[in-house]
Order: sequence, then C-alpha cells, then structure tokens
Amino acid sequence: MAQQEQWKSKIGFVLAAAGSAIGLGAIWKFPYVAGTGGGGAFLLLFLVFTLVLGMPLLLGEFMIGRMGQSNPVQTYGKLALNPKWNFIGKLGVFTSFLLLSFYSVVGGWIILYIVKLLSGGLAGLTQDQYGELFGDIISNPYPTIAAQLVFMLVTILVVAQGIQKGIELASKVMMPALLLLFLILVIRSLSLDGAMEGVKFLLVPDFSKLTSESILFALGQAFFTLSLGVSVMLTYASYLPKTQNLPQSAISIIILNIVIALLAGLAIFPGVFSFGMEPNAGPVLIFSVLPAVFAHMPFGMLFFLAFLLLFLFAAFTSAFSMIEIIVSAVTKNDASKRKKSTWIIGMLIFIVGVPSCLSYGVLADVHLFNKTIFDLMDYTVSNILMPLGALLIAIFVSRKIPREDLFAELKQGSNVRYTFFSICYFLLKYIVPIAIIVVFLDAAGLSDWIIALFK
Ligand code: PHE
Repeated sequence: MAQQEQWKSKIGFVLAAAGSAIGLGAIWKFPYVAGTGGGGAFLLLFLVFTLVLGMPLLLGEFMIGRMGQSNPVQTYGKLALNPKWNFIGKLGVFTSFLLLSFYSVVGGWIILYIVKLLSGGLAGLTQDQYGELFGDIISNPYPTIAAQLVFMLVTILVVAQGIQKGIELASKVMMPALLLLFLILVIRSLSLDGAMEGVKFLLVPDFSKLTSESILFALGQAFFTLSLGVSVMLTYASYLPKTQNLPQSAISIIILNIVIALLAGLAIFPGVFSFGMEPNAGPVLIFSVLPAVFAHMPFGMLFFLAFLLLFLFAAFTSAFSMIEIIVSAVTKNDASKRKKSTWIIGMLIFIVGVPSCLSYGVLADVHLFNKTIFDLMDYTVSNILMPLGALLIAIFVSRKIPREDLFAELKQGSNVRYTFFSICYFLLKYIVPIAIIVVFLDAAGLSDWIIALFK
C-alpha cells in the first residue's frame, strides 16, 4: 500500500482538525438552530451532548484512525479483520458527499455577499433591508450557481495539493485570525442598546421551549460541529505519528469549538434583540443581523469584510475535510491518483448540489416530505446520517476493538489517566448508543405513542 502522507507539526493537526470542526456549523447554523430551538435550553443541551457524547466519539475516531493508518473505508475492515465492517466508512463517505453538496451552496452565498459588499451594495441599510437583500441574492439562480462552483473549485484546488501544503498551512493562519475578529464583534454587539436581552436569551435556559425535534437538532448540531460520525476525524488522525497527544488534541478542539459557537451566539443575539428581530429567522439570521451590527460602528464595512473573509475560510477548512475523506477512500492513499480524483469527485458534488442551490429560488416551491430540497438534504445529513454514523462508530470502537488496545493507543504520546479512559470508554459503549437511539425514537414520535397508550 502507498505510504501515508503525514502532518508536518503537532499544532498543524490540531488546527486542521479544528478547522474541519469549526465552520458553518458553529458560525452560521448554531445561532439559527439555537434561535429556533429555544435559546438557552438548546445551548445547554448542545453543551451536554458535546461533552458527554461528542468527546468520547471524537477520541474514538482519533484512536482507530491512528491505529489503522489507512483510509476511512478500509480502516474498519483492517481493524476488525473483516471487510464487512467497511460499510461504516462507506456510509461516512456517502454522507460527506451529500453534505458538501449543500455546504458549498452556503459557501457560495458568502462569496456573493463579499462581492456585494465590495461593489458598495451593503453600506447603510437597515436590518430589514439586509434581510430582503439577502433573500434576493440567494434566489437568483445564475450567480448562486456560479458562486457555488467557485467555492468547489477553490476546495478542489487546495485538496488536490495534498494535506500538508494545502490544508495545514491554510488552517494555521486562518484560525487565530477568526478568533480575534469574533472577539471584536462580540464586544461591539454587547455594547448595543438592549444587548442584555439577547445574552439572556442565549444563556438562561427556558425548558418549556424544548421539543423532541429541538432535542434531535441539538444532538445533530453537536455531531455536525465536531465533524463526527462521517469518519473525517478518523481520516485526519490516520495521518498522525504516534507521538501526538490524542486526549489533549481532542480537548483543545472541543474547547475551541464551544468557544466559537458561544462567540457566534454572543455576536448575534444581542443584535437580534436590540434591532427588535425574531431569533427564529432561520438560515438568513446571521446574514441579516451581522451587517446591521457592523453598520453601526466606525469602519463597520471594513470589519464586516474581514469577518466574511474569515467566515469563508472557516467554511473552506471544513469543506477540505469533507472532500479529503472521499479522495482518501477513492485513491486509497495513492498520491499519483489524487489530482484527478479530486477533480472528478468535486465536480460530481457540485452537480448534485445544484438543486439545493436552486431551492431558494426557482425550485422554492418543490417540497419533499414537507421540506425544500436544501432543507431535506440538511435534515437527512445532520439529523439522520450523522447520528447514525456516530452510533455505528461508537458500537464499532467499543465492541470490536479490544479495550486494552484502545488504551494502549491512547497512551502513546500522552500520559492519560486510566480513569479518564475508562469514563470515555463507558460513555462510548453504553451512553452514546442509548442516547442516540432514544433521541431518534423520540423524534420519530415515540413519546407521542407512549402518551397515546396511556390515554
Ligand atoms: N464541522 C463542520 C462545520 O461545523 C461540518 C462538517 C461535518 C465537516 C462533517 C466535516 C464533516 O461546519
């Protein structure tokens, strides 16, 4: 088998994995699903799911990824000594494919917003006008498809270069800059009139607002933002030397991810309340609130431009990881096939994504299962395929790999305590599967049946 490429530096891996995690999920999706799902109660659930389910799963993917030193599909068969387990990897590759098909649509929106800003079209509007303008932009078929194509082309060009030159270098510069800009944004947002209302909405839980559906969304969101359940983290860990400290890397990634989601919430909800908007505006939320927050500060549009660029970078570093695992599965780490495969896969993803792109415009009236094409794709990936993949990975790691082997793997490069390992193992073996199954059944209406039984 071809020799695996490896990360250049320890921090390079952490940044690239954090780059995969931090993307549209934390910055764009978190505020709007939290806004729709009840604010503080949703945040609390998201945090609990991230720590109790996300943490052991992330470690699980890291351990078997580095243990297998192979691609996302064959790692499973190799470790279980039985190729039939490869289906978990195949499911992840399929999920990643669908995911990037609509992720690139949103990436395209950011590009169009940048173009609009540079042409002077964003200055001095009210927040209602920003909402309308954004609606107009994303309903226009040709520019949105062109922007989606540009997003895919950049993704292809970087990933075709291979992991070291492309992904690692890009992440090293972009991540710190993103954090800094977010801090500025939050400070600005908190100084708006009535900002406290927004802070309360985000931080004070009101459990009466939770529904089975919002619990499923919180679960999906926790997995989505950590890139879990699709073998992305497994693939990134397969490029690691045995000297990397896995628990420490996992903890840094989780903390970074939570910090970014919190910062995004703190940047957006004060604005929402201060401008008298609705927190449940959906996907347009950050595109209509943030320009209005920036518009009221000196050099606002300059800051907004910087923000959009970093937002775009964050989306790119996640997109790189999605296409990377497909390329890795298809080329089986044969570097000579990388370029061509990346191009073919990337173009196929683009084509599959076009209907999602059009579902905010000419296909807006096409509904399947009561959802637009875009929403259906997102729902299937985030709330069904990712939790399902996570369930399978949890079962695989805890029941197919001997416990001692896992601990031995985790110990390499770290002096992790046995208790820490035991807790994660227990969570992975029992709590993660049970929680995912219960949330699934609940969202599928189990609670309604039970209530109906007793009526
Ligand atoms: N974590 C990424 C985000 O929040 C999305 C992602 C999911 C990336 C799964 C890779 C794999 O935007």
